[in-house]
Amino acid sequence: MTDTVGAGTNVLAAKPATLPARPHFSSGPCAKPPGWSPQALATESLGRSHRSKIGKARLQYCIDLMRELLKLPDTHRIGIVPGSDTGAYEMAMWTMLGARPVTALAWESFGEGWVTDAAKQLKLDPTIIRADYGHIPDLDAVDWSNDVLFTWNGTTSGARVPNGDWIAEDREGLSFADATSAVFAYDLPWDKIDVATFSWQKVLGGEGAHGVLILGPRAVERLESYTPAWPLPKVFRLVSKGKLAEGVFKGETINTPSMLAVEDAIFALEWGKSIGGAEGMVARSNANAAALDAIVQARPWLGHLAPDPATRSTTSVCLTVEGADEAFIKAFAGLLEKEGAAFDIAGYRDAPPGLRIWCGATVDTADIEALGPWLDWAYSELKAS
Ligand SMILES: Cc1ncc(COP(=O)(O)O)c(C=O)c1O
Repeated sequence: MTDTVGAGTNVLAAKPATLPARPHFSSGPCAKPPGWSPQALATESLGRSHRSKIGKARLQYCIDLMRELLKLPDTHRIGIVPGSDTGAYEMAMWTMLGARPVTALAWESFGEGWVTDAAKQLKLDPTIIRADYGHIPDLDAVDWSNDVLFTWNGTTSGARVPNGDWIAEDREGLSFADATSAVFAYDLPWDKIDVATFSWQKVLGGEGAHGVLILGPRAVERLESYTPAWPLPKVFRLVSKGKLAEGVFKGETINTPSMLAVEDAIFALEWGKSIGGAEGMVARSNANAAALDAIVQARPWLGHLAPDPATRSTTSVCLTVEGADEAFIKAFAGLLEKEGAAFDIAGYRDAPPGLRIWCGATVDTADIEALGPWLDWAYSELKAS
């Protein structure tokens, strides 16, 4: 019996003796940070007003930690807003778009969602540039006199932009990066980013519910100089009497936040800080992605949905499985979940059938390594049945 299973083999792979210690490979919400437990969370701010001294202090501390870990320059503001990443990104779209033409890039489901928002909801008639799952479009085709909407890391296709070099320094439009599965996983060039959004539920292993909105100076200028033609609900309003609502970027949230989610994010950020901040987190993610790539390279029946390593995600790694259709993947993921070997590794519902294995910082490399033999086992079990 060999370690790996060749395509078309009739040899049954042995059931591995060792389970991954934490079989949490979901691409969102993602694995909790190592050492996490509900008891480890600070709870003093719970059951109190979020506008109490302690509430405000914890929100500000959370913002300060995010700024420190991300090495966010003083030019950029960072705030906690409602509605997870979707809320943060739509808040940016609804408050700033319409001032100039829009280009929307899409290469997977979430980018496609922002295209729909721009075209069908805001009716902005955007220039749409698309690529198939696993690929990214020609970034040099982007006209930076437009506002540009894009997803830094396509969580459902495992394809990402390679870096920020394609974003023009002298752009007239604003860059809007949905960076939810990219922050704390890549070194982001903040001078190229006018708007970035993310949710704690991804690389930090935090909770959903809140989004994080990062605004560069040009975004603030847009907010203060432009009023959209459409009405804005209260949860989207970032401007009061023509001026940016600065309080939002000091922890004075628009409406009531979950302080439990905030405390949970603080735990994750303190963990991130303890392993060397964003650099330490990026290193863990890279090690996980390399360990998974070694598994893929050793198995002829596994492949990457994103063929080009330069634009392949190191967080949401999407894999092809030879001969697999949706039913096969469902059975494959179900089998591994039942064994406690891997949770939530079926690809996203709109993506081509395949596996998706989260390699963000909160996952341990040893658990990715332990997953390899289980993939062999599930594959051979299903091929034999
Ligand atoms: C790229 C991307 N954008 C947006 C979202 C939506 O995030 P949320 O559910 O936190 O609003 C996700 C979630 O998986 C995502 O991966």
